[in-house]
Amino acid sequence: MTGGDFVAPAGARHYEGGLTAFVLITCMVAAMGGLIFGYDIGISGGVTSMEPFLQKFFPSVIKKMNDATAQENEYCKFDSQLLTLFTSSLYLAALVASVFASAATRTFGRKFSMVVGGIVFLVGAILNGIAENIEMLIIGRILLGVGVGFANQSVPVYLSEMAPPTMRGALNIGFQMAITIGILIANLVNYGTAQIKGGYGWRISLGLAAVPALIMTVGGLLLPDTPNSLLERGKTEKAKKMLQRIRGTPNVDDEFQDLIDASDAAKEVQNPWKNILYPRYRPQLVITFLIPFFQQLTGINVIMFYAPVFFKTLGFGDDASLMSAVITGCVNVVATLVSVFAVDRLGRRILFLEGGTQMLICQVAIGVILGLKFGVNGSGQMSKTDADIVLILICAYVAAFAWSWGPLGWLVPSEINPLEVRSAGQSINVAVNMLFTFLIAQAFLSMLCHLKFGLFFFFAVFVLIMTVFVYLFLPETKGVPIEEMNLVWKAHWWWARYVPDDSPPTSGSLQLTTSKAV
Ligand code: BGC
Repeated sequence: MTGGDFVAPAGARHYEGGLTAFVLITCMVAAMGGLIFGYDIGISGGVTSMEPFLQKFFPSVIKKMNDATAQENEYCKFDSQLLTLFTSSLYLAALVASVFASAATRTFGRKFSMVVGGIVFLVGAILNGIAENIEMLIIGRILLGVGVGFANQSVPVYLSEMAPPTMRGALNIGFQMAITIGILIANLVNYGTAQIKGGYGWRISLGLAAVPALIMTVGGLLLPDTPNSLLERGKTEKAKKMLQRIRGTPNVDDEFQDLIDASDAAKEVQNPWKNILYPRYRPQLVITFLIPFFQQLTGINVIMFYAPVFFKTLGFGDDASLMSAVITGCVNVVATLVSVFAVDRLGRRILFLEGGTQMLICQVAIGVILGLKFGVNGSGQMSKTDADIVLILICAYVAAFAWSWGPLGWLVPSEINPLEVRSAGQSINVAVNMLFTFLIAQAFLSMLCHLKFGLFFFFAVFVLIMTVFVYLFLPETKGVPIEEMNLVWKAHWWWARYVPDDSPPTSGSLQLTTSKAV
């Protein structure tokens, strides 16, 4: 009687047409939206470990680092609320922006939000690159955040709507792929600019964010809108032509009818924010909230933001720390590829379950090693072998995240919400994700200082909880057409009770199979 017994709908409708070059290209361009997000995630950690940057904006941190007494506690070296505010302010801005982005995405279409996101981000990047004081720096970060809020709100939905159902996972993961590439590029840029002697390397690191912003803006201008969004805005003829074009066949009647049904249902909904609170959307609401919450509680951004700082804490030198961040960045990209190939074949659940288990093992092992070496006082030293083992464990942990919670954290919420609440659902997803990204970014350095090695056990407990949650409550969504997702809830042992019989789709040709009684 668990969610684990559930098998994706075997009887679900098979639409004609498949993956066309046109869809592939549009999805690749749209996924570029992930670059701006990834670049940000990767760039701030390296920049905040560069001395000239700290000298200019955060002299108190430098003082503390050089202060002999403070250095005694390895865990507390970098603890500064102002420094973390630099990293985390972006996510707070993205949180607020994603709420506005919902209305924009619904009213003006997905591509509109992408272009707006790209332009605002561009301005933020320029401001950061030329920053002379902390105000310019933080305002720039806020603009970057607004850009990220719009991009993350629109891109995953765009990808899920464009993709044919059987390829939706792989195409949607293009977004996460771009995020990881953005992070890796940022790590490499930091590694390069840290070598610059003139002390302006950080300006190049921050200013180069303009490049992915330009790619996204120009890309967004060139992209067509999704058939779902065209219908949502009353452009029926255009929507049908677009669907024929993206599926590469004139026979799209079945799929188009589903889109029309979904769009009609959506038109009856005046206020998606109020609607998503109705019991019939409870499964979507709960999962859309919990997935980004859990994604952040894996602790991944401790590594993504602070890898160089963390490796310094472990006793790695400056260069070695930045290099280790490059290594974890590479692992992140390569492991994401695994999910591209596995997600539509093996399904979402198996990736979640395997990834969760692997992360859990790595976190416990890292916690134990740090506990043994640094103890509770935070005094002590790591041998090179110990530090290397920790690096390997971190890589295994990053790999597990990269083929599970990383991509699925964006894919699943974007594919489970029906059209009438999709934009609102996606905003909840982005807002929750950003809120917890913010909280963890803000709290990590002082959590490390206070919880010490226990921090890894803290995240391990959450990974255990989320893995059990997936096992029990997350049905498989592999291959289910996006506007027919209701069938999945109707067949689930727990969620079925929330889905009324009259809810769309009502097509009699559809049925679900479950491997065991639910
Ligand atoms: C998450 C980010 C994370 C990144 C790492 C994304 O899916 O939302 O918070 O930094 O993956 O690759």
